[in-house]
Amino acid sequence: MPAFFRSIYLVEDKRLERELFGLKFKNPVGLAAGFDKDAKLYNELSNFGFGFIEIGTLTPKPQAGNPKKRLFRLKEDSGIINRMGFNNGGVHEAVGRLKKNKGVLIGGNIGKNKVTPNEEAVEDYKICFNALFDHVDYFVVNVSSPNTPNLRALQDKEPLTELLLTLKAENANNAIQKPILLKIAPDLSDEQLLDIIDIVSETKIEGVIATNTTISREGLQSKNKTEAGGLSGIPLNNRSTEVIRFLSEKSNKSFPIIGVGGIHSVNDAMDKLDAGADLLQLYTGFVFEGPKLIKNINKAILRSS
Ligand SMILES: Cc1cc2nc3c(=O)[nH]c(=O)nc-3n(C[C@H](O)[C@H](O)[C@H](O)COP(=O)(O)O)c2cc1C
Repeated sequence: MPAFFRSIYLVEDKRLERELFGLKFKNPVGLAAGFDKDAKLYNELSNFGFGFIEIGTLTPKPQAGNPKKRLFRLKEDSGIINRMGFNNGGVHEAVGRLKKNKGVLIGGNIGKNKVTPNEEAVEDYKICFNALFDHVDYFVVNVSSPNTPNLRALQDKEPLTELLLTLKAENANNAIQKPILLKIAPDLSDEQLLDIIDIVSETKIEGVIATNTTISREGLQSKNKTEAGGLSGIPLNNRSTEVIRFLSEKSNKSFPIIGVGGIHSVNDAMDKLDAGADLLQLYTGFVFEGPKLIKNINKAILRSS
């Protein structure tokens, strides 16, 4: 069966390969965090043609997340509002499953438990980082989910610098270092985005993932628009592209950017690449459009190369 899916969806071509932060991606279209939080499906999902898969967000201890119902489709807007709240089986359980990796390039997205106060958050990230170290290819520090109370305050300059420097120091304890990326919210001001550029340069982390879901509700039609949580999909597309362009231009392209947020078509993907994204990720577009979207984007990239 996997071979069947691969024959339908996989686009294999040298020209799709990307080399970034010392890693070789078979193609630039990845699966965004949150879909395979517990690393249960990454081997199967890779058969749909993804060049890489980000698991998580994982926390040190298992946690149930928010009460159901916590995921809402906004059909008329081609969007999703979710307030899952980092439901996951904990990082140690995921490590067991990652030992069964059949060659998938994996990003490990890490966070903190809800019960951990922000002052102790660094310890949670450290636990996840060290537990996953031998089992993922790159790390993503998630401080941008709107569904863990106060988490986004960790995007402020001082706590974020401390967090990233701590993880860099942990990284340096290993014979080989793994790339560390920061995932940011689309709701940051220009001033905050300039801070992010400074922090990346100061801490020497390898890159940024832009963006997570938004707390904005601008221009929505669906009745579910009043639900609390993070909004993804088409309503996020323009803002996410704007953030990518801003980071790319203001930093003079000094670090790689993974562009994510509202890619539902080949054009959306091309816009993000034009704005300065080096790699792409999908979540909501994959849910609404299905796996053919991955293939169509890769084919379009080939046509333009
Ligand atoms: C149901 C759901 C759960 C998500 N969970 C996570 C998560 O655990 N960690 C994370 O960094 N992002 C999470 N995200 C955000 C996505 O990774 C992505 O950044 C965002 O949805 C924008 O991309 P999209 O418009 O293609 O969905 C989640 C998104 C959705 C819809």
